[in-house]
Amino acid sequence: MKLYAHRGVMARYPENTMSAFRAAVDAKADGIEADVHMTKDGELVLIHDETINRTTDGQGRIADMTLAELRAVNVGVMCGANDRIPTLEELIDLCRGTALRLNLEVKTDIERYPGIEERLIDSLRDQHVPAEQVVFSSFNHATLNRLHQLAPEFECAVLLAQPLYEIVAYCKEVGATSVHPHVRTLTDDEILHLQYVGLAIRPYTVKTVPDLERFRRLEVDAVFVNDIDWAKAYSTP
Ligand code: G3P
Ligand code: CA
Repeated sequence: MKLYAHRGVMARYPENTMSAFRAAVDAKADGIEADVHMTKDGELVLIHDETINRTTDGQGRIADMTLAELRAVNVGVMCGANDRIPTLEELIDLCRGTALRLNLEVKTDIERYPGIEERLIDSLRDQHVPAEQVVFSSFNHATLNRLHQLAPEFECAVLLAQPLYEIVAYCKEVGATSVHPHVRTLTDDEILHLQYVGLAIRPYTVKTVPDLERFRRLEVDAVFVNDIDWAKAYSTP
């Protein structure tokens, strides 16, 4: 079972920062999850919320701000650190030439960011990122379908906060080959069924040893964790 660093190693560093992503590399994570938004001037940046209010010392909607404006705020403020909101390009550079999987969660649930799908594909292609290194995910499944239509070579994963009826047919319709369910949304039988039909499963976010053990026993593809070292300590049988 692989371990993906949720927003980087967010248990120890400010979430979605280069410090948190570098910590994931140092801890030998198998993958890094990052949340993608688009600025007013069309740049792709990594931050969880639609605004900078919770995680920085600034205020405002990302869609209303330029990259230069976003770069001026401190995103390390909650951890007593000093850090900048990273661009997607910086994360790509960090992962270049490594075996790390890059899970880019496209945050179009509230802001639609018109054109973000095209911008994302162009960016990955311009930077020659191997398609097999990337997994797109989103709670907005129209975004996923758009990404799949534009670039079917990239893997797409449906993010699910709730159980979903007819999930196999649904994934096929969207163009997804993997499922990222909330830890509590799938029974063991449902997981076995999804594996039987060939869908990869990566539950988010695993925070307890019983959950880690359950997903290891079920041999899911990967789990998202906030602390790679913690998960590794409990991942050696
Ligand atoms: O991608 C898994 C997980 O990150 C989804 O939830 O709120 O942490 O972005 P959230
Ligand atoms: Ca996320």
